[in-house]
Amino acid sequence: MNILVFGKDGQLGKAFQSIFDTKNLDELHAIDYAGREQCDLSRELDLATFLHHRKPDLIINAAAYTAVDHAESEVDLAFAINAKAPAVMACYAFEEGATFLHYSTDYVFDGSKATPYLEGDARNPLGIYGKSKVAGEVAVEDAFKHHPNTDAQFAILRTSWVYGDGGNFIRTILRLAKERESLKVIANQSGVPTSAYWLASISLALVLDENHQLRSFPSGIYHAVPQGETTWHALACYAVQAAIDAGAALKLRPDQINAIPASEYPLPAPRPMNSRMARSALETLLNQIPKGGDVTKLQQWQQPWQEPVAHYVQDKGI
Ligand SMILES: NC(=O)c1ccc[n+]([C@@H]2O[C@H](COP(=O)([O-])OP(=O)(O)OC[C@H]3O[C@@H](n4cnc5c(N)ncnc54)[C@H](OP(=O)(O)O)[C@@H]3O)[C@@H](O)[C@H]2O)c1
Repeated sequence: MNILVFGKDGQLGKAFQSIFDTKNLDELHAIDYAGREQCDLSRELDLATFLHHRKPDLIINAAAYTAVDHAESEVDLAFAINAKAPAVMACYAFEEGATFLHYSTDYVFDGSKATPYLEGDARNPLGIYGKSKVAGEVAVEDAFKHHPNTDAQFAILRTSWVYGDGGNFIRTILRLAKERESLKVIANQSGVPTSAYWLASISLALVLDENHQLRSFPSGIYHAVPQGETTWHALACYAVQAAIDAGAALKLRPDQINAIPASEYPLPAPRPMNSRMARSALETLLNQIPKGGDVTKLQQWQQPWQEPVAHYVQDKGI
């Protein structure tokens, strides 16, 4: 099988690479990684040519325009990468009978719901990034409708607050914790921190069977976040404490992190107040998968968000 991973230099792309390397999957499959140099996703025609040349059976699109605030002034670029590129990938997948794994975000919602969002809840993004990701979701769903092919399938995994090998909130907080003796962090936005490694691992549990071959699954949108919920402020406190426990020399203690409302920290792009997403749809699907002796994936799925954050902080030696 040919596997093609877009976004090789991003947090999620690197997590896929690490899993494929650890499991020696390149001995079983031809795995190709594409970054910006191999294929600029803002060029639709180049992307279509690239796909037809590489002929992937499984496309993993870990690439995206993720600069949420810059997106407000780079509208065309955000839409090119987050909407048009996945549309081209989806058309290829459904014409050629391939599997397409794509990622979306809590930012497709406006965050006004009091409880966790369900997959079918109305999308109402607040900013350009969210709008471009919604356009990507819709384009993938439409391509599937317009080019029915029995072998073709797609999953759009919506996730939130991703951290991995790259720039992210936890890294920023720990950098600031080395420099400052007090910090203000937003305490009235809630969500779930998601390890890129966890997300890649759960994604593969969905699309590959125990022999690492493609499995069939119902195409659609699924929420993929770890168990539990938190706020940016509580996450900052938890990460700082985990770093202290791991022996890091920080100037900041958790009790010096002050809770503020989002209104005190204005940013160019508005963010949803509630980013919590219900996990039951993907959980049901994962539970239906024959275990094949490998219960690790389900254990990972049940893991609350705190454990991987603590490991991440220790692993990175921050
Ligand atoms: N990060 C989060 O908190 C978060 C939250 C919810 C959902 N998500 C979604 O999760 C997925 C993975 O996010 P992530 O955190 O891994 O993102 P990331 O670290 O920002 O990586 C995105 C990758 O996309 C690549 N890319 C951007 N423009 C490109 C272009 N024109 N051509 C080719 N490649 C291009 C970037 O390349 P360069 O390295 O060259 O810039 C980067 O390697 C995305 O779909 C994102 O929307 C992320």
